[in-house]
Amino acid sequence: MRVLLFTGKGGVGKTTAAAGTAALAASRGLKTLVLSTDPAHSLADALGVTAGPEPTEVGGGLYVQQVDTQRRFERSWREVQEYLLSVLDTAGVDPLEAEELTVLPGAEEVLALLEVRDQVRSGRWDVLVVDCAPTAETLRLLALPEALGWYMERVFPVERRVVRSLRPVLGKVAGVPMPRDGVFEAVARLHAELGEVREVLTATGTTVRLVLTPESVVVAEARRTLTSLSLYGYRVDAVLANRVFPAGGADDWRARWVAAQAEQLAEVEASFAPLPVYRCAYQQAEPVGATALADLAAATYGDGVDPFGPAPEAEPIVVERSGDEFVLAIALPFADRSEVGLVRKGDELVLTVGSYRRVLALPSALRRCTVVGAALRDGRLRIRFEPDPALWMGL
Ligand SMILES: Nc1ncnc2c1ncn2[C@@H]1O[C@H](COP(=O)(O)OP(=O)(O)O)[C@@H](O)[C@H]1O
Ligand SMILES: [Mg+2]
Repeated sequence: MRVLLFTGKGGVGKTTAAAGTAALAASRGLKTLVLSTDPAHSLADALGVTAGPEPTEVGGGLYVQQVDTQRRFERSWREVQEYLLSVLDTAGVDPLEAEELTVLPGAEEVLALLEVRDQVRSGRWDVLVVDCAPTAETLRLLALPEALGWYMERVFPVERRVVRSLRPVLGKVAGVPMPRDGVFEAVARLHAELGEVREVLTATGTTVRLVLTPESVVVAEARRTLTSLSLYGYRVDAVLANRVFPAGGADDWRARWVAAQAEQLAEVEASFAPLPVYRCAYQQAEPVGATALADLAAATYGDGVDPFGPAPEAEPIVVERSGDEFVLAIALPFADRSEVGLVRKGDELVLTVGSYRRVLALPSALRRCTVVGAALRDGRLRIRFEPDPALWMGL
């Protein structure tokens, strides 16, 4: 199954591109679902249909689904939240404030992605297209499965046996209400589910397409997005430049836009290489309906391109061996050396790029090594590891 995620700044044309790509896939005989995790319900509007929380057929092998983020959230998080509220209540935190503290930022959208996992599992589709929430949220939500798992492993001892033996002690010492078994089950389930979401999103058949418009502010944000997506191990396989003004027969006003966009597009082509940059022309009216959207997508990808072909093979993270050393190479396009931070904490590597942070569990071969150096070159961070004799001997 091919999974395509569309992301980009608000209003650049994510929904249009996602719906168009899906409609094109269906028109080529592929069983396709286009699913939106964006709480702004514009996917159904673009297709000119009504969508519900279950896949509904638009026609011709195309299905649409609008994830009910609130419902998914309640299902997975409510029980944990109630427990946290009771803890905060004991601690004398104002209930209103407590409510706010127990809402995980971005968690709704993350849990919406559980629907993506379910649909992948169903095996019903050849192509699954996901219309994501705007960049900032999506990034946070894409990062969250990992961050949340890390947090949970520490805050909640997931092993229930450990919990049972600790309960009497903790109960007495801290005066904190101990969670019921159901809470731990809910946490363990959520933890496992998020791991599965991450697996789906970083699977070899899953790629991200970055949508942008040829404007300097948008392009700058798209570059940062590409860096962060790489940091989290996602594969970006294309850039879609939308709202490109047609050049021919332009009046003075349009001619200026054409010139300004041409400059931005050249910049985009140069800086996102080797990613293909597809151009989508500014239409005279909003493209609405499966047919209009599919036509627009077909013109965007052009002939001779299979938008649903296999994902490029380049792995975002690889471990290479050179002599006695190991090198962990991570793709970080556009990252600047001054904003990259690296800290080793036991079996984990905490990697930061600007305000984004990733906790990488080290592959087993690297756990018994020490970091001896790191260099950022050609958009790749290369971290060198040397076997540590003390660690190898188990000291
Ligand atoms: N190439 C285009 N030509 C004309 N209108 C477009 C084009 N791409 C998008 N639009 C219109 O712009 C608006 C925003 O697009 P949308 O796909 O909803 O953006 P996003 O999902 O990124 O917020 C919609 O009304 C859409 O119909
Ligand atoms: Mg949208």
